[in-house]
Parts: sequence; C-alpha cells; structure tokens
Amino acid sequence: MERAYAPYSQFRVGAALVSADGAVFTGCNVENSAYPAGICAERSALAAAVAGGAREFSLLVIASEADDPTPPCGMCRQALVEFAPRLAIVSYTKHGTEAEWSLAALLPHPFTPAALTHHQ
Ligand code: THU
Repeated sequence: MERAYAPYSQFRVGAALVSADGAVFTGCNVENSAYPAGICAERSALAAAVAGGAREFSLLVIASEADDPTPPCGMCRQALVEFAPRLAIVSYTKHGTEAEWSLAALLPHPFTPAALTHHQ
C-alpha cells in the first residue's frame, strides 16, 4: 500500500497473494493519467505471481485506506477466479479493521476456462 501510485484517487491499495507452496507475491494499484490504463493492487499482485511462476493460490490479503475493509472489485474477482476458485480473502484498513470472504461468495456463478473448452 505504501508503494501504490494513486495520485488521482488518493486511494492506496496493497495486495499480497500467497501461493500454494507459501510464496508471497505483492502488488499495489498503479494509476495513470489516462484513467482506464490504471491497474488494481489485486491484479498487479496476480501478474507478479504468474510472472514469478505461481499459478495456485490459497490466500489474498488486501490493505487499503478505506474506512471499512474493501473487497476486490469485480474485474479483479474475475481475474482471480481463473487461478484460484477456492481463494480465501482477508482485507484490512490502515486502522487494522479486518473482514474475510471467500472468492466463491464474492463471485458466484463465475465464467471459467471450462466454458471455452465445452462450447463446440
Ligand atoms: N483499487 C484497487 O487497487 N483495489 C480494489 O480492490 C479497489 C480499487 C484501486 C483502483 C484505483 O487506483 C483506486 O483504487 C480507486 O478506485
């Protein structure tokens, strides 16, 4: 979260993705003057993890500056479910407030790779 580049929203987010073998990959939101070119902390962590060789994940930890713990946005839920349909998610504020969800609860009836292999 401290390394987030968020000059437009002033809303810094950090994410840590724990792989099946216990490795931790971190990310932060990286905004852009062309606003849609920005990326969330969660997908930033996912990209770092996949680039680092991990594809199975057990836990996502989020830290944000919100008053209440924030869950990942819809786009990040979809990006995460591709690799970790049973992901556990814990979110903290800078005040230490904590919330927990499963990705399955946050994204019921996800679109998955199976849809592409069974369409013919
Ligand atoms: N953001 C995240 O990085 N993760 C979330 O879960 C919600 C939103 C970022 C995107 C943007 O840089 C800023 O927070 C405000 O939406």
